[in-house]
This record gives sequence, structure tokens and C-alpha cells, in this order.
Amino acid sequence: MQRFSKAIVTGGAGFIGSHLVEKLLEFCDEVVVLDNFSSGKIENLKDVKDNKKLEVVKLDLLESKEISDEFAGAEIVFHVAANPEVRIAEPKVHLEQNVLATYNVLEAMRKADVKKIVFTSSSTVYGEAKKIPTPEDYGVLEPISMYGAAKLASESLISGYAHTYGIISFIFRFANVVGKRANHGVIYDFIQKLIRNKNELEILGDGTQRKSYIHVSDCLDAIFYVLDKEKSQYCVYNIGNLDSISVSEIADIVIEEMRLKKVKKKFTGGIDGGRGWVGDVKYMQLDVSKLTSLGWHPSLNSREAIRRACRELLENAISSS
Ligand SMILES: NC(=O)c1ccc[n+]([C@@H]2O[C@H](COP(=O)([O-])OP(=O)(O)OC[C@H]3O[C@@H](n4cnc5c(N)ncnc54)[C@H](O)[C@@H]3O)[C@@H](O)[C@H]2O)c1
Repeated sequence: MQRFSKAIVTGGAGFIGSHLVEKLLEFCDEVVVLDNFSSGKIENLKDVKDNKKLEVVKLDLLESKEISDEFAGAEIVFHVAANPEVRIAEPKVHLEQNVLATYNVLEAMRKADVKKIVFTSSSTVYGEAKKIPTPEDYGVLEPISMYGAAKLASESLISGYAHTYGIISFIFRFANVVGKRANHGVIYDFIQKLIRNKNELEILGDGTQRKSYIHVSDCLDAIFYVLDKEKSQYCVYNIGNLDSISVSEIADIVIEEMRLKKVKKKFTGGIDGGRGWVGDVKYMQLDVSKLTSLGWHPSLNSREAIRRACRELLENAISSS
């Protein structure tokens, strides 16, 4: 694993960010978290809060004047902060929290001469891809959600900065990432609904939506694997699993893991052929052969990742109730 003298993690108090921080602390001299705590929580960092190498700064990436100082001397920036909620259609939220925030990070990097960025992008940049599994060089890219559009716009900005200012850039397009501390997404939603009502589970859409899932531990493993092996100025990698699972099957796993017996699954039917919401991509399966041909393979398939994440989230739900 590469060592970094100083790593910045934007969004380091969130779900994926906090796992990333824990891992970085194992081999970095200094890790600085920049987070406005809009969805992130300081409790997410409780296992590492006393680590002398960690600094947590409460700051909004939209306040560009404030963020510049923090970047001085950094070797790498993991830009994880975003509004990750695909279901929010409001364009301004995604323009500000995803595109403008990315621009501010890139400007701060340029001014402080920070030369490496890792960006957490998403499968949603592909929109309703006609080729499934979808490879990184698929095009024309036509996102169908404001979130996907904002991720693609952010990728483009990073590409511009990479080629104009020599910033080495790693773009990772994630499938659905699941695991401990997730604060949104299908497993989280189902658990919350079933805690409220043990007899009926509302499922958005027709339940046949089929997507690929990856456990957060595998996702981070893949990122560090690529960071070690990839030598190009700008690269894009899909990170996902080799298989997929339907929303209805996920509901069955959650019901089983919660030891509930007579739950009635109530499908909303959804819109436009069974989508959960406007902008929901019904079938998502990333082609991960670029990643596997580097030599990396996920340790858990989609079904195993879902089950493990469900147990982890339930453990947390029980211990905090
Ligand atoms: N979870 C997934 O399945 C998934 C899939 C694809 C891509 N991603 C991407 O991975 C990243 C992390 O997602 P997550 O699921 O951990 O979400 P999260 O909401 O748990 O984490 C986002 C973090 O960013 C912080 N943040 C948001 N806006 C900010 C701002 N303006 N200034 C400072 N901090 C800010 C939040 O407080 C939070 O700590 C996001 O970029 C998301 O788009 C996630």
C-alpha cells in the first residue's frame, strides 16, 4: 500500500468516507477530514477519534475562502463529499453540492499545488445503458437523473484540471455500495420501514429492478489496489460486482435477517415501467473487467454483500435503540 504524508478526505464523516478514513490512518502520516456534517456524523469516526494523525475540520465545501488553507501540504485528496441521494430531483442541490463543491476542491488543489485526486463517481453517469454489463468506455453518456448529471459534470471538470494543471486523477464509478454506517439506500430504507411496521413493507417500483451491489470493504480495497497499480494521468474504473440482485430479493433477505414471518410486500408499482422513482435506472450492472484484469476481485458477491450489510446495519440499529 502506498504511504501518503497528508491525505484530505472531503465527506470523511459520512458512510463511505468514515471507512476510508479508518483505512488511511493505517498508512498515512496525517489525515484531514473536511465535512459540514449535513449527513455525516462525528460518531462515524468514534473508533479513530483519538488517533493523533487525524484532524477533523467542520467546514462547508461551498465556502471556498475557508477551504483553501486546509489543502496546503496535502499529497492526495479523496473527494467523497456530495449529496448522494439520487432520489432528490432538485437541480440546484446537485449543482451546488456536487458540481460547485467539486470545482471548489479542484481550485483549492490548484492553488495549493496538490497533485492527486480520487473522485467517488457513480454508475448513474451511464443512465439507461444499452450495453449491460456497462464498460467504462461506453457512450454516449446520457444520465437520467440530476445526480447522475452532476457526477458526470464533476468528472468532466476533473478531466479538464487533470489535463490542464497536471492533477493525477482517479475516477471511480461505484455500483451500489453497502455496509455498516450507511445512512441511505435500499437496505437502510427497508430496515427503517420494517422497524415502524412489522406487518407490511412498502417497496418502491415493481420490485424487479435489478442492480449490482458491493460491500464497502471491497469497494475500498479496489480503490487502493488501483492506486497502487495504475500509472496514467487520468483514469476511470468501474467498481462493482460480477452479479446483480433484484429489489424484491433484497426485501426477502432483510425480512429474513429481521426474523419477521408474515410481512406483506406491497409494491407501489412505480412509474414508467416499474422504476422506483423518476431517474431510477432499472437495470444496472457494471463491467468490471478493467478492474479484474488488473488482478483485483471482490470477496463478496451482491447477495453476500447485501446480507452482511443488513446484519451490520441491524446490529447498529439495535445497539443505538
Ligand atoms: N453509497 C453509495 O451507494 C454510492 C454509490 C455511488 C457513489 N457514491 C458516492 O460516494 C460518496 C459518499 O457517499 P455516501 O454514501 O458515503 O454518502 P454520505 O452522505 O454518507 O457522505 C457524504 C458526506 O459528505 C458530507 N458533505 C456533503 N456536502 C458537503 C459540503 N458541501 N461540504 C462538506 N461536506 C459535505 C456529508 O456531511 C457526509 O459526511 C458520494 O460522493 C456519493 O455520491 C455513493
